[in-house]
Amino acid sequence: MPPESRLEKLMRPHMAEIATYHGVDPSEELARSAGIKPEDVIRLNANENPYGPLDKISAALSGLPLHLYPDPNQRKLRSALSEYTGQPAERIIAGAGGDEIIDLLMRLFVERGQKVLDCEPTFGMYAFSARQADAVIASVPRNETWDIDIKAMLEAIDDSARIVFLASPNNPTGNLLTEEDARALLETGLVVCVDETYYEFSNSTLAPLLEEYENLVILRSFSKWAGIAGLRVGYALASARLISHLMDIKQPYNINIAGEAAVLAALRHQGELLERAAILIEQRQRLESVLDDTDGVSYYPSRGNFLLCRFERLTAEEAYVGLARHGIFVRKFPQTVLSNSLRISSGTPEQTDRLIDALRSVV
Ligand SMILES: Cc1ncc(COP(=O)(O)O)c(C=O)c1O
Repeated sequence: MPPESRLEKLMRPHMAEIATYHGVDPSEELARSAGIKPEDVIRLNANENPYGPLDKISAALSGLPLHLYPDPNQRKLRSALSEYTGQPAERIIAGAGGDEIIDLLMRLFVERGQKVLDCEPTFGMYAFSARQADAVIASVPRNETWDIDIKAMLEAIDDSARIVFLASPNNPTGNLLTEEDARALLETGLVVCVDETYYEFSNSTLAPLLEEYENLVILRSFSKWAGIAGLRVGYALASARLISHLMDIKQPYNINIAGEAAVLAALRHQGELLERAAILIEQRQRLESVLDDTDGVSYYPSRGNFLLCRFERLTAEEAYVGLARHGIFVRKFPQTVLSNSLRISSGTPEQTDRLIDALRSVV
């Protein structure tokens, strides 16, 4: 960017200099960077669903009343989500992806200079949203098994702390948050957001704790298991009181007509989607057993549709470039604890064949 202009002087200083969040590039860009054809790109870098949308979901998108605003109260959506989750509709809000819910929580609870906690390495959006709020981010390092360091977490909580974000399974490490650790944090009275974006792969949830804790938020998404990341729908489960405040501050039409129709169709056809999710888990397990017999690369146990792999003789960058030459794009991370690690999303069986061949040749 050219030197600071009058515009930056008018801006809120923390926004003018914010460290942005880098999302994944479109396949055409990935292909260009690797000097290959876009159709040869295998995207294993965003934990997307490689099967694409279900035909029945695509069909549900035609003939929609696109000239009308969607329902600001998300009535049909919340009622369908209520049936799916077993929670009353008043305890549910939908957002434009889990990302929007994270942003809304930050807007609702965090003022400038107040503290937001997460546990590194983890999903970068928590810290990014905290930076937007001009909050202080306490990123407490995870231990060598990637579990959270509950003692250090409790020590990091002071009067200015407002909210804790914990992904379960954690992205990118794949491990679950224990109920014991969740309870210890909930007992502090802070808002605890347990991010279960990968719930349909892990089959593990802390949602039953909603009966006990008004300060618990469970975050979920349709991006991964339901294959509609492009339509941006996620949701939160929380106490009716907390949800009612979130409903009051959200943009009125945050879920668009297409997103609403797609979610309703996804829930009608959840059986088929869950079958696909099961295949993706099988592919992760297949990759694990190949890695068990491969020198030079190991992995951390995962409950998600992704595997964090550690390279013994290569840096993450070297392994990344090697895989990209084979058309396979995975996720690398800036943190030094992950300087030898890459996160690889589960692909279709055919993509996993190609991944395994590529990994063998790269390591
Ligand atoms: C742990 C976690 N939470 C939330 C999200 C955001 O998902 P979305 O905004 O697509 O619902 C992601 C996406 O990668 C994630 O990994």
